[in-house]
Amino acid sequence: MDQREFARYEVVDGVAVITLDNPPVNALAPGMREGLMAGVERAAADAAVTAIVVMGAGAHFVAGADVRQFGKVRPVSTRASAAALEACAKPVTAAIDGYALGGGLEHALACHYRIATARARLGVPEIKLGLIPGGGGTQRLPRLVGPELALDLILSGRQLTAAQGLALGLVDTVVDADGYEALRAQAIAYAGQVAAVRPLPRVGERTDRIAAATSDPAFPASLRKAAPAKSLKLLAGRHALACVEAAATATLDEGIALEQALFNELENSDESRALRYAFSAEREAAKLPGAPVDARPDPVRSAAVIGAGTMGSGIAIAFADSGVPVRVLESSAEALERGLQRIRDTYATRVKRGSLSQPAMDECLGRIRGVMQYEDIADCDAVIEAVFERVDIKQEVFARLDQVMKPGALLLTNSSAIDIDVMAAATGRPGDVAGAHFFAPANVMKLCEVVRGPRTSMDTLMRTMKMGRDMGKTCAVAGSCDGFVANRSRTPMMTELMLMLEEGARPEQIDRVMVAFGYPMGPFAVNDISGLDVSYEGRKRRAAANPDYRKLHVPDRLVDMGRKGQKTGAGWYRYERGDRTPHVDPAVEDIIGTVARELGITQRSFSDEEILQRQLFASVNEACRILEEGKAYRGSDVDAMWLHGFGFPRHRGGLMFWADSVGAATIYRQVSQWHEAYGPRWKPSALLAKVAAEGGQLRELRGQAEPA
Ligand code: COA
Repeated sequence: MDQREFARYEVVDGVAVITLDNPPVNALAPGMREGLMAGVERAAADAAVTAIVVMGAGAHFVAGADVRQFGKVRPVSTRASAAALEACAKPVTAAIDGYALGGGLEHALACHYRIATARARLGVPEIKLGLIPGGGGTQRLPRLVGPELALDLILSGRQLTAAQGLALGLVDTVVDADGYEALRAQAIAYAGQVAAVRPLPRVGERTDRIAAATSDPAFPASLRKAAPAKSLKLLAGRHALACVEAAATATLDEGIALEQALFNELENSDESRALRYAFSAEREAAKLPGAPVDARPDPVRSAAVIGAGTMGSGIAIAFADSGVPVRVLESSAEALERGLQRIRDTYATRVKRGSLSQPAMDECLGRIRGVMQYEDIADCDAVIEAVFERVDIKQEVFARLDQVMKPGALLLTNSSAIDIDVMAAATGRPGDVAGAHFFAPANVMKLCEVVRGPRTSMDTLMRTMKMGRDMGKTCAVAGSCDGFVANRSRTPMMTELMLMLEEGARPEQIDRVMVAFGYPMGPFAVNDISGLDVSYEGRKRRAAANPDYRKLHVPDRLVDMGRKGQKTGAGWYRYERGDRTPHVDPAVEDIIGTVARELGITQRSFSDEEILQRQLFASVNEACRILEEGKAYRGSDVDAMWLHGFGFPRHRGGLMFWADSVGAATIYRQVSQWHEAYGPRWKPSALLAKVAAEGGQLRELRGQAEPA
């Protein structure tokens, strides 16, 4: 593509304005850095130009390097284009609106002046992609704001507002400008004012902040101490520390050379590949094939939640947190009060922990209103039903909603298993019915699985996705089937976990394997927190409905004995009073041994690898079946769901990304062997067999039909 399309050049009142233009966020695509450098060169050579402005077209400066370009050869690096800006003999002013992130901020740091609008957001988020700033950022940032703050910004990846940036010396002034034209005018005026100032203030030449930091005898040990231990567990975190230390002790050129070497190493690391993939997968999941390109779905401006149980309250909080007024409907005053109290308690805990201010809590609570009549929710843009999981109750709710809700209201269900179409059939407007399936706790977990029934309209789907996104959730579409996509693909993993116990694996071994894999906690420790009884009724229901259902005797027996988890002082582990530390309990081993004897299973030992593969291969196979049946759009959507619904370790990319690292052929072979050994539940998916035979990536699979 012609580089001029990315970087417009014009001269106004002796000021050259270079406008970077690559919608939607001006990510640094190939050609942009070249365009920028060409503009700087042209301005430097033009005697009529006394100063230069660099800015972004549209609402943003530059949101960073183009994520899709990592791992590919870049003819010009940010390092080079930033160096060209800093070296320019005429003053360069960065005029920042919206995002100046990563390579965007690095370019701004290489400019001699930085002005920003109030809505500017500044940061170096590379760490979230398993990287460090690679365009001189690790060297210029410490010189501008001091090593300690620079390291904090690099390790946290957090965004600063313009006001914060001003206070820290990251920007020179905050201007009042709304929109491109207004900012351009202000930037030209500012550039004119500084046109004659010499020497040029080059960040790369600043020494004051470094001198102040290194004059402290505790430096650089103090720097290392200030870095959070969890950041230093990651290679990118350790490399960031090394670069910032170099900024304080070496020359700019030496520091930049180190940054380049370490950045290159990270760019090619498995960890960064997985994190970059996760970034793309979650954004891809938001895309609806077949949706009109120019569609602008209406936002949900008012919402209602039916049922004030754990899920209902969590969803209400998620709405209130995102600024949407929400009414919570319950049929009894006691249940309503219990739900509202749960909501108040959740907010109070946040205030106590310091993650929310009292006024912000009051504002959120002010958005939540309890009601007891359907008529009181009739005018809401969307209603989410979160009542007890029984078909007849759900049908009743939907019939009632059909009577009262205004035309065009979204009629949504948080059901985790019931056929959407059964609920749609209870209304005269099946096109308006869809699933909005949240994960517990709904105000914390980021996944909203949008379930499409056979009659759900595209408009409903688009508006539901927008609603979820506006609530800060990652949305992905599932077709209507038992368990939908997220839970359905995870169930086999949970089943194999339990069956491995019968065969001789121990809960503490499985937990250790999964923690080593990257989960913050093992599945049994988590189950002790969520409660063993939660899935107990569901299993009973499934067993009653399906004579072939393989019973999970161990957890059932624990529940029958009153071992429901932490709340009863014992579950998979034993707990001391007032302490959440899990202790291995010989009683559990006895129960497992008894079950194995009763079933005639000879126990054996398991390798860590077998434990991991047996769980995850079962789920990979199921995910392939889901795609085969056309219940999901893409393999990568499964990953977005696992990352945000179940806390799958992000540096592993997701279930399917991890599966690709093992290889479809290896997985297929093993699944086939287990099919022979364990029977029908391991029947290999035809799609898995196909990829194994023909090659390709599981994460790139497309659903074999439109999900519905
Ligand atoms: N490269 C390529 N595309 C990018 C991008 C990047 N660095 N940053 C954002 N985009 C794209 C997204 O893919 C999305 O495209 P789509 O609409 O086709 O899906 C679009 O820009 C909007 O991004 P989105 O994340 O949906 O919007 P947001 O307002 O919620 O968040 C950002 C915007 C910039 C904060 C967020 O996208 C982000 O963190 N980007 C990565 C920034 C980064 O890490 N930069 C450093 C790389 S060196």
